[in-house]
Amino acid sequence: VHHHLEESIRPYIDLIDTLRSFGIHKDLALPTIVVIGDQSSGKSSVLEALSGIALPRGSGIVTRCPLELRLRNVTGGGSWKAVLSYHKKKTEKNTKAVSNQLASSASKRPRLSYEEKIIEFGDPSLVEKHVEEAQNELAGKGVKICDDLITLEVRSADVCDLTLIDLPGIARVPVQGQPQDIGNQIKRLIMKFIEKQETINMVVVPCNIDIATTEALKMAQEVDPEGIRTLAILTKPDLIDTGTEKNILAVVQNKVIPLRKGYIMVKCRGQQQIDEKVPLVEATQIERDFFQNHNFFRPLLDENKATIKCLAIKLTQDLVNHIKKSLPKLDEQIKKQLWDVRNELKECEAGPPQDPKGAKQFLIKVLTKFNDKIKSLSLGELMDKEN
Ligand code: GDP
Ligand code: NA
Ligand code: MG
Repeated sequence: VHHHLEESIRPYIDLIDTLRSFGIHKDLALPTIVVIGDQSSGKSSVLEALSGIALPRGSGIVTRCPLELRLRNVTGGGSWKAVLSYHKKKTEKNTKAVSNQLASSASKRPRLSYEEKIIEFGDPSLVEKHVEEAQNELAGKGVKICDDLITLEVRSADVCDLTLIDLPGIARVPVQGQPQDIGNQIKRLIMKFIEKQETINMVVVPCNIDIATTEALKMAQEVDPEGIRTLAILTKPDLIDTGTEKNILAVVQNKVIPLRKGYIMVKCRGQQQIDEKVPLVEATQIERDFFQNHNFFRPLLDENKATIKCLAIKLTQDLVNHIKKSLPKLDEQIKKQLWDVRNELKECEAGPPQDPKGAKQFLIKVLTKFNDKIKSLSLGELMDKEN
């Protein structure tokens, strides 16, 4: 799977990640796959199965900050390696000092008020601990959520080339220690990610609930009415009530709530299999057997609408198509910014004219401008002091 996709895909994914690591996503919207769904819909299970990485999971609110998971396939061996990074806000005192200083030059945002934390490790079983610690630092210990992004890059021979963002699950009822409006807070956070035209929204929905009433699907449809960038993942097919199979098959086959990108059904490990520590590789085989032996869902295998493996291929392809489509727009935005900067630069670049008289006038003009600038700056400082 990796081999024949790799060549056509890697350059695009690398380009986007490089741009993102420069912080360019603050100015330009970059394509990404975002995972959303209700709490306990099976989001972490899907991510875990896709990535082979054990993320913090459990009942209640576990994911409390957006988590960007960058998976990099390194063929030809090499050991498992992860880098976790996030930006921690510096103390308020420091932030203020920096803001004031920059406010008087009135041009740049106070970027300096963030401190970058980077943690490298080589043991897959430490992911949970490090992500939890980062969450505690950003959102505080407990049950609160936070908008700050945590990035986890994993290099391994066993992952596919994908970049995914995991978001807190939608909660309806606040638990002790959560603000009354936690549901809305989470929805606002999710909205911030899914409303961007450049995201592919992966909506995780359990098979054993009424799909039409799923909040996450409604939100995705709200921001993407035509379903151009919405993909639905149906989880827990082993838990559906007997007699509802045909209805669910109709949903997966896109006959009930049509989505342009359609549905994929996956079966992940249930709680018992997790407790019994059934390895992911074995879970993949169990999933395949489940579909092959299923009276109603067997056809989904041939239709490429079932299994985690099929989902991984589809997501990777979608992401690449999406990046390809976004490139001309990115190019346009970059050219426009370049043009603006060049125009500003021109004023400085021209330099003095060759003849002595012209040069003298030029010098006077520059000095006057400089003088004015100094005056206005010191005036600003005086006013700052008076305040
Ligand atoms: P999240 O809150 O959306 O991240 O949900 P989790 O991934 O933590 O899953 C919630 C529970 O559902 C866990 O106990 C999982 O083991 C279980 N689960 C997830 N997918 C499946 C599935 O396909 N079949 C079964 N039987 N259980 C599943
Ligand atoms: Na959960
Ligand atoms: Mg989860």
